[in-house]
Amino acid sequence: MKGKQQMKQRRIGTVEVSDIGLGGMPMSIEGRPDRERSVATIHAALDAGVTLIDTADAYHLYAGEVGHNESLIADALRTYGGDTSDVLVATKGGHLRPGDGSWTLNGDPAYLRSACDASLRRLGVEAIGLYQYHRPDPKVPYEDSIGAIRDLLDAGKIRMAGISNANPERIRLSNEILGGRLVSVQNQFSPAFRSSEPELDLCTELGIAFLPWSPLGGSSAAGELGGRFGAFAKVADEHGVSPQRVCLAWMLAKSPVAIPIPGSSRPETIRDSVAAADLELAPDEIALLDAAR
Ligand SMILES: NC(=O)c1ccc[n+]([C@@H]2O[C@H](COP(=O)([O-])OP(=O)(O)OC[C@H]3O[C@@H](n4cnc5c(N)ncnc54)[C@H](OP(=O)(O)O)[C@@H]3O)[C@@H](O)[C@H]2O)c1
Repeated sequence: MKGKQQMKQRRIGTVEVSDIGLGGMPMSIEGRPDRERSVATIHAALDAGVTLIDTADAYHLYAGEVGHNESLIADALRTYGGDTSDVLVATKGGHLRPGDGSWTLNGDPAYLRSACDASLRRLGVEAIGLYQYHRPDPKVPYEDSIGAIRDLLDAGKIRMAGISNANPERIRLSNEILGGRLVSVQNQFSPAFRSSEPELDLCTELGIAFLPWSPLGGSSAAGELGGRFGAFAKVADEHGVSPQRVCLAWMLAKSPVAIPIPGSSRPETIRDSVAAADLELAPDEIALLDAAR
């Protein structure tokens, strides 16, 4: 049995998860590594104490491999060789990839029910730990899509419900439709993309977990974070750590409900990211990072 590290914990609904989660997307879309490196990355995350893994049925490349990332995560959990019963796998439905590089939407309730059934099968679980409605579909009334998520909760197919890419109005509406059972909101948030601050503030007020997506600016920009934002490089130099680690520590400091989910496709990067949970930033450093644009 493997000995896992303990990381500081935050809460999603009734479940305690590690302060830093693992975003699975880079292991299944354009530029993805081979399977061996992906499994090594997920196992490195588990070794480091990660107990939140974010995925989606749409994290795949070709048309015929829907759920590539869900299946990869399920396999990596099965082959880990240690206890994974405390790991919350958070998946999503409502986005599709037809295989030509594009991302399309389907928020139809019947589609969401079938997508959830397919995710259940791929993850090999009786109930999905956290199911998130991926992105509003302008062709379907939002209430109808969230109503389908409520029905999945009531049917016991999902244990907890979340939404993604939602504005404050939709956060309140979803929580109402779900009867106060909305546990998480996943929106884009990074040094380069600050416009989700109202949603972060609302989640803090309501005690709903906020999962910043692309927290480092996304796969193509993550490596340049320090070059693009001098304040993050400066604080990183002072602590002798990476600017990416500073960025994640800054998000943790912004709100007790923030749980970043940095994407990773290499053991080295997820190990570096999880160390953000132990990086304390001084108030003047946080103010400097807040002001960095
Ligand atoms: N809900 C939505 O609509 C939505 C949209 C996009 C993403 N997401 C979720 O959010 C997750 C994170 O977003 P993302 O993957 O797009 O972008 P990201 O987390 O901003 O950046 C990911 C990239 O950062 C690099 N990285 C990670 N930690 C690092 C570190 N400590 N030092 C240096 N580089 C580091 C990784 O490089 P390596 O690949 O070399 O390891 C990876 O390719 C996704 O994986 C996905 O689960 C959700």
